[in-house]
Amino acid sequence: MINFKIQSVHAREIIDCRGLPTLEVDVLLENNITGRAAVPAGRSTGTHEAFELRDGEKRYHGMGVRKAIKNVNEIISPALVGKDATCQRELDNIMRQDLDNTPDKSVLGANGIIGVSLAVARAGAAACGMPLYRYINNHAYVIPVPLFNLINGGKHASGDLEIQEFAIFPTGAQNISHALQIATETMDELAKILVKKYGKFAINYGDEGGFVPPMKGIKEPLDAIVEAVDRAGYSDLVVYGLDCASTHFYDLETKLYHLAGEKLTCERMIAMYKELCKTYKLVSIEDALYEDDFEGWAQLTSELGIQLVGDDLFTTNPARLLKGIQSGAANALLWKVNQIGTLSEALDAAELAFKNGYAVQVSERSGETEDDIISDLAVALNAGQIKTGAPVRGERTSKYNRLIRIEEELGDSAVYGDPNSRLLRR
Ligand code: PGA
Ligand code: ZN
Repeated sequence: MINFKIQSVHAREIIDCRGLPTLEVDVLLENNITGRAAVPAGRSTGTHEAFELRDGEKRYHGMGVRKAIKNVNEIISPALVGKDATCQRELDNIMRQDLDNTPDKSVLGANGIIGVSLAVARAGAAACGMPLYRYINNHAYVIPVPLFNLINGGKHASGDLEIQEFAIFPTGAQNISHALQIATETMDELAKILVKKYGKFAINYGDEGGFVPPMKGIKEPLDAIVEAVDRAGYSDLVVYGLDCASTHFYDLETKLYHLAGEKLTCERMIAMYKELCKTYKLVSIEDALYEDDFEGWAQLTSELGIQLVGDDLFTTNPARLLKGIQSGAANALLWKVNQIGTLSEALDAAELAFKNGYAVQVSERSGETEDDIISDLAVALNAGQIKTGAPVRGERTSKYNRLIRIEEELGDSAVYGDPNSRLLRR
């Protein structure tokens, strides 16, 4: 008889890739099987994300997570001990409704709750003797196309670029290993181009492992990336994406976007994106407009005809996504489990997206750990796309390397990329 009962839940403080504290949670079952998960953190966060509890004390300049840990070890743990780890939704509901009972999980802290939620999933999978992607979805087979963020701007870098992420999508790769080869060779060419033009400091890394060259605007970085792809010989296999994270350069009072020395209205932003789509093989733009401008988003979506991804717009929140669906805002959901705080709710958001013809792009946070759980989750969702930074630095490569292993495990049943995706149609 397999015993799925939880014996203990234990959280500890570890550090993430920025050297900031975060939680790691162990869920121990009565048969000594453990599920472990670490919690990522954003820097360019959306206003509507679930509440991240930080200590606000002297240690770690206020960023400690001991309060969230105390809540896990002293409040959540006793409530879950003795429960069946495979009853994911029931356990998530205990945390979110019985113990926290706020819309944003501000009593216990969403960082503690998501850590437990993910560790429970891992413990359940381990007890069933299955990889996590299979445990969540018996029909998981799609290896996601990675969106490699090669130039970092916005809040993830110390340069002048307002746009946060300039990325390549190797949609024409044969498989994940080939996608990684394309990305690393392109990055190598990009490094040579940047050093020649801007000097050696241009190839320092930003938060997500992309370069931070002293560039301005949108075209300068895009041109450099296109040239790098061309030099690497992959022009036919690669398309491009942006995460503008535009809320962070939007002025709430004047309702204008401060971009590359100009002050732009929503209409001018849309016109600019249209122009960009004529010049570049852009297939996906994330957070092109302000996080609460559903009307502007609807206009953008009806006019652009490419993938428009809502990150700060939706914050993986089914209620906000529903509002977007009803108003015609965006056509894809950026899926970050810690934005909403439980795995069940995040899965609900993905299901709602798929049912309404929205794509789902699984995403890391800029503050990651070595935990590779999002790779399993992306495969479990058959999402067909994942955004997890440049192909460098351990907190990013852990995800890519996990995908290589999953692809190997799936063998002939693995399919690289979702054949129905809008991304592959351009
Ligand atoms: P964040 O950035 O993790 O710092 O919020 C990622 C993103 O905006 O997609
Ligand atoms: Zn984003």
